Amino acid sequence: MLSRSLLLGATAALVAALPQGIDFDAVDSVPTPSVLGAPLAATIQSQVPSYSPSAAAQSAAAAVPTDPISSSTDDDSSDSKRSLTARKACDPQKAGAAPVTSPDTASAFLANANYTTIQANAPVPQGYQIVFQNLQGATQQNGYLGYYTLSSYDTVKCQQYCDKASSCQAFNVYIERDPSVEPGTGCDNPPSTVNYKCSLYGLPVSNATATNTGQWRANFQVVITASNGYVKNAPPPSYTDFTGPTEFGGAINAPIKNGQSSYIGVKVFPGPYDPGQCAAACEAQTQYDHDHPRSDGTYDPCNFFNSYILSKNNSPIGTYCSFYTQAWGKSYAVNTGQYDSNGIYYSVSSSYGYTLSPQDPGVVSSS
Ligand SMILES: *[C@@H]1O[C@H](CO)[C@@H](O)[C@H](O)[C@H]1NC(C)=O
Ligand SMILES: *[C@@H]1O[C@H](CO)[C@@H](O)[C@H](O)[C@H]1NC(C)=O
Repeated sequence: MLSRSLLLGATAALVAALPQGIDFDAVDSVPTPSVLGAPLAATIQSQVPSYSPSAAAQSAAAAVPTDPISSSTDDDSSDSKRSLTARKACDPQKAGAAPVTSPDTASAFLANANYTTIQANAPVPQGYQIVFQNLQGATQQNGYLGYYTLSSYDTVKCQQYCDKASSCQAFNVYIERDPSVEPGTGCDNPPSTVNYKCSLYGLPVSNATATNTGQWRANFQVVITASNGYVKNAPPPSYTDFTGPTEFGGAINAPIKNGQSSYIGVKVFPGPYDPGQCAAACEAQTQYDHDHPRSDGTYDPCNFFNSYILSKNNSPIGTYCSFYTQAWGKSYAVNTGQYDSNGIYYSVSSSYGYTLSPQDPGVVSSS
């Protein structure tokens, strides 16, 4: 059977200028998680993040024998999916900490300058940058980790929750107009209660995904305002057996040497940005190839990987890993993004290189 990596290798030889351009098929086969953000008008006060990098790495490594690194995985680790408590019409909901707008209508809420002032007075936490401000939509995108209800518009508290959660990269703080009782027969447009919300993401947020503008519940309108996005300025961790991360300005575009491509293939993981999945897949692939060498005793070791966040039209997809038999430096990290044939723009951010140490020679010892 002609493997996908062989196919990619053949394409690479023909298109030498971009040997390992973004593999759109691998990206498109990644499923969109069913939960993209905090639930609206929820009875629960929080969803505590549960993402585990070590579990994700284990599953990335375990997938290699049946799903080698030349193709993508569909590891949808969205165990943040939780059933919300069933509610009966007119059941009281927990009161929010934010001031209710007078008059108590959705349009007055959206026009209330008091909320603009509240977000404007919130500090940008150390180590983070503000990437959007005072929008009227909550973030909904890949990499959702969980959320908290706050007792004030407390960006520092939300940052502390983010720093405590594994793989948290970004957060969204916003003000939500919620019903004070469950809307339904007998109370179809109840008075509002107003909540401060903090939602956490393992992928950077941007204005492009601050798109959840609310919903109708019976005749009550849930709406969002004063929505601010913050992104962490920190490199990903280092990993055992690898040197790095080495910061790159784009994705590696390695040359063909003596007709040989050092590019082995790709894996794309949905969910938080977690290069540990690349590291685990890289080592598992080397182990597998070592155990299944060519007749001359050689195999393609995974000696280097490039990890980055891939976004599709500015909405992040997850962790993109490309794997190589040799290390490449910053001067080859030139692919910052590309269009597919349908005009969809795929962009590269948070690109880092990790080099196996010591390097694997790719030869089974004869002893
Ligand atoms: C804004 O805050 C002031 C002072 O608390 C209050 O009097 C006013 O009603 C608020 N505006 C709205 C639209 O709720
Ligand atoms: C996001 O902000 C950028 C820069 O400020 C702007 O060009 C772009 O149109 C905005 N996108 C959306 C979806 O609002």
